[in-house]
Amino acid sequence: MELENIMSLPSLTIRPRRLRQSPAIRRMTSETSLSTADFIYPIFVDESISEAVEVSSMPGVSRIPVSDVAAMVKKVEDAGISGVIFFGLPSEKNANGSAGWDDDGIVQQAIRAAKEACPNICVIADTCFCEYTDHGHCGVLHGETVDNDATLENLKKEAVSYAKAGVDMVAPSGMMDGMVAAIRSGLDDAGFQDTVIMSYAVKYASGYFGPFREAADCSPSFGDRASYQMDPANRREAIREALLDVDEGADILMVKPALAYMDIVREVKDATQLPMAVYNVSGEYAMVKAAAANAWIDEKRVVLETMLGFKRAGADLILSYHAVDVARWLSED
Ligand code: PBG
Ligand code: ZN
Repeated sequence: MELENIMSLPSLTIRPRRLRQSPAIRRMTSETSLSTADFIYPIFVDESISEAVEVSSMPGVSRIPVSDVAAMVKKVEDAGISGVIFFGLPSEKNANGSAGWDDDGIVQQAIRAAKEACPNICVIADTCFCEYTDHGHCGVLHGETVDNDATLENLKKEAVSYAKAGVDMVAPSGMMDGMVAAIRSGLDDAGFQDTVIMSYAVKYASGYFGPFREAADCSPSFGDRASYQMDPANRREAIREALLDVDEGADILMVKPALAYMDIVREVKDATQLPMAVYNVSGEYAMVKAAAANAWIDEKRVVLETMLGFKRAGADLILSYHAVDVARWLSED
């Protein structure tokens, strides 16, 4: 009886392993791929230093003086990477963060140096105020809360100042309501219709930003960012934020952080038609570097697998501190 049952099993006609049998067939049927063109490399430019200083919690990442910007951007361009995004550490901070719209501010200087050295690379400026305010919040304070609409006026000035310096894209990251519409109108009124807006549309109040706050010296001096960045528990709200930014005229949407929010990347991708970026943030980088330094993981293998995961989840663009290493690994294979 038992033998008869086995004999009567239909032969397996469907065998997924057929397509895994050789490297050539696996390559032909691979669904997702990585290219150096997918990447944007973050750069920290510090007005108060004359030599690069490594960020202790981000091995391989340094704050650099503006005099090093041209060489750094050249290295990134030579690696085949599409763009750089600048974060600035000004020598002076104040309550409203006016260094952000100083036409001779640190990011404006970096933009000019980058465009002069590499006119073809896409130069992006993170557009926020936490690095410029003495209290470390992402806008002007009214009492202990960030005044949304007063901050919008400053965001316009900051975006226009970056555009005058020659930036290709501004990337508002402060999660202010209406920030995309305000910046779009500010840029258009100043004659910068072609300046692209990559909006940090869905940004969560995350523990994964820890090392960045050391790198960019922008920890809030009191409280936290929970009244403007999103609650990690929320999914529907992410779609709502993304659709609002589409309506306001965003050109590219971003989800941030990346690893803990892959479901959100997929859902925003399916809900909108815009190119999607994902930010593989400082804490995600630091964890990989720490494990790799202990030889607990194979860094190259783990990083490439993670990047592929972002693409598979729906990201078109990846902002990552690993970008230069990834570009080298891709060219090796
Ligand atoms: C500033 C900003 C932050 C990051 C990018 N832009 C920090 C924050 O919101 O506290 C985080 C980037 C990273 O962790 O790599 N608005
Ligand atoms: Zn900010």
